Amino acid sequence: MNQYITSPIYYVNDIPHIGHAYTSIACDIYARWQTLNKRDVYFLTGTDEHGQKVEKSAISKNQTPTEYCDKVSNIFNQLTVDLNLTNNDFIRTTQERHKVFAQNFWSKLETNGWIYKGYYKGWYAVRDEAFYDESELIDGKAPTGAPVEWREEESYFFKLSFFGEFLLEVFRLMPDFIKPSTRFNEVVSFVSGGLKDLCISRTSFKWGVEVPHADNHVMYVWLDALTNYLSALESKNLTSKYWLNAKKTHIVGKDILRFHAVYWPAFLLAAEFEYSTIQSHIPSEFCKQNFDTIKSLLPTQIFAHGWWTNEGQKISKSLGNVINPYDLINQFGIDKLRYFLFAEVVFGSDGDFNISSFISRTNADLANNIGNLLQRTLKLYQKNCGFEVDMQVPEIEAFDLLSKFDVAINTFQYHEALSLLIKYSSFANEFFDKNAPWSLFKEGKVNEAKQVLAQILKMLTNISICLTPFCPSSAEKMMVFMGLDHTNIASIINIKRLKTTEPQVLFERYAIK
Ligand code: MSP
Repeated sequence: MNQYITSPIYYVNDIPHIGHAYTSIACDIYARWQTLNKRDVYFLTGTDEHGQKVEKSAISKNQTPTEYCDKVSNIFNQLTVDLNLTNNDFIRTTQERHKVFAQNFWSKLETNGWIYKGYYKGWYAVRDEAFYDESELIDGKAPTGAPVEWREEESYFFKLSFFGEFLLEVFRLMPDFIKPSTRFNEVVSFVSGGLKDLCISRTSFKWGVEVPHADNHVMYVWLDALTNYLSALESKNLTSKYWLNAKKTHIVGKDILRFHAVYWPAFLLAAEFEYSTIQSHIPSEFCKQNFDTIKSLLPTQIFAHGWWTNEGQKISKSLGNVINPYDLINQFGIDKLRYFLFAEVVFGSDGDFNISSFISRTNADLANNIGNLLQRTLKLYQKNCGFEVDMQVPEIEAFDLLSKFDVAINTFQYHEALSLLIKYSSFANEFFDKNAPWSLFKEGKVNEAKQVLAQILKMLTNISICLTPFCPSSAEKMMVFMGLDHTNIASIINIKRLKTTEPQVLFERYAIK
């Protein structure tokens, strides 16, 4: 089945930090693994450029919103290159293709009877671009800690309140819709608490997609932003291939799960079904009868990941402890960053970034375990037998790494996938030590020694395949040293002969300061 994977689109109110890199790399790992296994996958990322938060940032920099958005969006686009992402498209919500789509989407909601005009009176947090109920405030602030402002303005509303029972039924029918399951429960309890109609337009500022035929109204930035997942596909005629007939996964941070798991499905269903039709049915019956259509309209899964703190503290601009991904890329290289973020913390849980953990983990797993295994195996072989290796030797399998790894990646258990990889590499190192091929050479048992090393090279081949989605350039280097064709993974799984080259250091070791 075709697959679609998306990162959130990033607000351009600020330059990229580790949290943005994290979400994007998570998508890339998935996309790379699918591609490597010859599965058709489409990966979208981009920037979210409208709304009051962005408008305010532009003003504070004395720039027009357009100038400002172009500049910051370019920085995010460059980051996709520097993170070594394989995204197929980069959507900007200020692009014409997006604006036209968002307006058409609005018109569908309107035609289907889901929108009415009203007056909004209540709290708004610009930082979160979210409306809050008085009852949700804690010490006069949003539950996220963001400051709130009082708003009174004419607005259009979306009949979200209707969707409570309906969404609960969808969740029952799609038990894997929200992952991890703790997040699923959170969303269910939020929806069970009752949904209020949602304010979906603003008049008090201008920087947004204009509401069709309604002077002065711009769309609420979340309605505009969420439609990016479709506008990008639609602009390339790919909606049928990667949405309606695909497995679609949104990876998002836990802070924006509600928008994706509640608002977005409601919008999607409302764009398809008329209010009057749905209203006249019992939600559970309607969902069951239309389940195939509903599945094709909604994302298949929304995976919410946790947040990184920095040395135990919440990351924030005001605390001045924002982690710039470039500081790590420049010092340690992108592969180590990609590895660390997923080896250190279970994907889905919160994690703490700490430079000494970064160094000790990457030293231990990458330099001392995998890198060292490759070096000593190839060097010993080349010194005694030259560069060509006969790989037709009985297989030593600790366990079936490739298939276990596949299951783990497909279920976003990245941490588990990397634990398997390291366990496998440790097994190969132990096998090396136990069989002591260097002594076998000394004792003149050349064939035995060659066999042991070929068996380890076979394991290293599997290691290089599994390392590919996490550390793509290092995995490629590994393959080059072993004489494997990294562009054709199928050709290397049962390779009969290797033409190796002299290995260079794969992963540098660093001292912990
Ligand atoms: N523009 C919205 C998303 C719209 S998607 C239709 C947005 N943008 S954001 O730039 O503020 O955040 C993007 C992502 O970065 C979110 O998934 C968020 O969870 C993630 N992170 C921001 N800070 C983070 C950490 N400290 N740690 C991990 N991820 C965090 O929200």
